Amino acid sequence: MEPQLVADVLSALGRSDGTAFCTRYDVCVSDLTEALDAVYGQGGDVTALLEHAVGIALTAAVERPEELRLLDRRREVDPEWFQRPQMQGYVCYTERFCDKLANLPEHIDYLAELGTTYLHLMPLLQPRPGENDGGYAVMDYRTVDSRLGTMRDLADVATALRARDMSLCIDVVLNHTAMEHRWAQGWLAGDPEYADFYTAFPDRMTPDAFDATTPSVFPDRAPGSFTWVDEALGGAGGWVWTTFWPYQWDLNYANPAVLLAMLGEILWLANHGIEIFRIDAVPFLWKRLGTNGTNQPETHRIMQALNALVRLAAPATIFKAEAIVSPEDLVPYLGGHDRYRPECELAYHNQLMVMLWSSLATKEADLARHALGRMRPIPAVTSWVTYARGHDDIGWAVSDTDAASMGWDGFSHRRFLNDFYSSRYDGSFARGALFQANPLTGDARISGTTAALCGIEDALVHDDAAALERGVRRLVLLYAVVYAFGGVPLLYMGDELALRNDRSYLVDPALAADNRWMHRPWMDWAAADRRGDPSSLEGRVFGWLQRLGVTRRGVPALRGGTRTEMLDVADHRVLAWGRRHPRSGNFVGLANVSDGEATVDLDRLSGLGDLHPVLGSDPMAATAGRLQLPGLGFLWLAES
Ligand code: GLC
Repeated sequence: MEPQLVADVLSALGRSDGTAFCTRYDVCVSDLTEALDAVYGQGGDVTALLEHAVGIALTAAVERPEELRLLDRRREVDPEWFQRPQMQGYVCYTERFCDKLANLPEHIDYLAELGTTYLHLMPLLQPRPGENDGGYAVMDYRTVDSRLGTMRDLADVATALRARDMSLCIDVVLNHTAMEHRWAQGWLAGDPEYADFYTAFPDRMTPDAFDATTPSVFPDRAPGSFTWVDEALGGAGGWVWTTFWPYQWDLNYANPAVLLAMLGEILWLANHGIEIFRIDAVPFLWKRLGTNGTNQPETHRIMQALNALVRLAAPATIFKAEAIVSPEDLVPYLGGHDRYRPECELAYHNQLMVMLWSSLATKEADLARHALGRMRPIPAVTSWVTYARGHDDIGWAVSDTDAASMGWDGFSHRRFLNDFYSSRYDGSFARGALFQANPLTGDARISGTTAALCGIEDALVHDDAAALERGVRRLVLLYAVVYAFGGVPLLYMGDELALRNDRSYLVDPALAADNRWMHRPWMDWAAADRRGDPSSLEGRVFGWLQRLGVTRRGVPALRGGTRTEMLDVADHRVLAWGRRHPRSGNFVGLANVSDGEATVDLDRLSGLGDLHPVLGSDPMAATAGRLQLPGLGFLWLAES
C-alpha cells in the first residue's frame, strides 16, 4: 500500500481499525487488481479505478457503526462462522410473515424455536409501483418499501436479530433496477452522471442477434431480452436491455461507474446491519454475443472485485450466489476456478433441490447419486445453502448427460417431471402448476408449495389418511436431506407448518399473472398455534423440523469445509451420502425415496467408521449387516 494511502487510512480510521483495513488491503489487492484489470483494463491502467473503489470502501469503513466493527472483529477471528452446524436459515416475506418490520422482533422467539440463526427477508427495498416482480424491481436501494417500514426499522431488526445470534440476509438485485430508479431516469434524460448505465439499441439488429442465442426468462409475457422505450437514445427511441420483465432494466457493467455505484449501495446496506447479501440473478451480469447470456468470465471477475471491496470495508459481510445454472457452471460462483478466487461464500445448491424432487417422482435415487456424485468439490472456505423449496419456480436442471447415464432422454425426463408435479401424470401425488410453459421449446417449470408438491394437499382434499402420512414423510425426508447434506439449510416459511398452495394472489391484478405466488403463502398463525400439538399436522411437521435442527447442531461432521460423498448402499431407492470431517467423526445419511421398504447393505459403510444412529424417521434395527429402511424413511448415522 502506498505510504500516503496508509497515512490517510490510519488518520481516517485510527490505529487499530486502520491497521486492520491496511492488512485487508494487502491481502486482497492482487485479487482485486486482477479482477478489475480483466474487466476494465483493456490494456490500460486500472490504478485510478482501484483508487476510486478503495476510496468508497474507506468512506464506508469510516461510517461503519461501532457495533458492526465489533462484529467484523469477531468474524475475522472466526472466518468459518457460517460453516458451523448451528447455522440454519429461515426465509420469509416480511409482509406475509408479520406485516411490518417493526413487528418482526415479536416473532424472534418463534424463529428461535426452530433453531434459526440466519433470516432471509425477501425483497424489501423500495420497489416500483404496481407490478414489481415480487420486489425484484428496486427503485431505491437506500429506502425500505414504505408498506413494510423504514430503513431505521430494518436496522433495528438487524440489531434485534444479532442480539439473538441471528444474521440478517437480504437481496441485492445487481443485474437490473426498476425503470423508475434514479439512475435509469437520469440515463434516459441524458444526465452525464448516468451515461452508459444501461444499454439501448436503435434498431433490432443487435437485439435480434442476442435473442437468437439467449433463452427468454419469462417467455409467456416477456419474450426476448429487450423492450422498446420511446424516450431512450435521446428521445429517438430504442430497444433497452431487459432480461427479465420490461420494467427491469439491465445495468451495464461494462461501465465501471455502475460497479462503483452498486458497491456504494451494498456498503451502505452493510452498514445498516445486513450481514448476508443474496446476489440476485448473478449469472446474467455480463452479456456476450453468441452465448446463452450467462456465466461469462467477466461476471465472475465483477463478483471477485465486489467481494474484495466489501470485505475491505465490512468484513463481517458475506455473499450468497443465486445462480440457478448447471452444476458445472455453479461451482465457479463459490470461487472454484483454476485456483480459488474469493467470490461468493455461499451458493444455492440448486442441483440437490432438483434431484430430490426428481427422486421423489421416480421413486429411485440413482440419478441423484450419479449427478451429485460427479459435481466438483467446492472451495473448503465456502458452503452450500441447501433447500427443498424457495420463492421461485423449480426449473428442471437435469443435464442431458446425467439423464443419458440412466438410459433416459433428458427432455423426456424433464417433461415427465413437469407432468408429474402439475398433476398431469396418472398416480401423481403432487398438486403444483406449470410456470412459463413455452410451447416453442416444450420447456416449463413448476410452482407449488412443498406440502402441495409432496402430496399433503392432495391427501387433505381427499381426506386420505394413508396418503397424508406419506405426504408428511416426504416433506420430512426432504428436510432430513437438506439439514444434513452439508451447508446451511434453509427452511422456507410455511414448510414447518405444511402450508398448502395459496390462491389469494389471483385476486390481485399485480400478482395474478405470476403463479409463483401460489407458493408464497401468508403466514397462518392459527396453524402455528397448533405446533405444540403432536397430533396435529402442524405439530408433527414442526416437531420434526425442530428435531432435525437440534440433532444437526450436535453433529460436528455437519459443519462446512468438507466434501459430501455419494454412497452406494446397494438399493437404488436409497439416497446415501457421507461426510468425513477432518476435525470430527464421520456422518452418513440415508433416505429411502420410494414408498416401499428398502434394504441397506451396511457393509458398504464399513469404511466410514463406527457409526451410530443419531436420528431417524422410524425405529430401525439391523440384522446380519442389513438394515430395513421403511418407505420414505430416513436415518442419520454418526461416529461418536
Ligand atoms: C431471481 C429471483 C426471481 C426474480 C429474478 C429477477 O431469479 O429469485 O424471483 O424474478 O431474479 O430479479
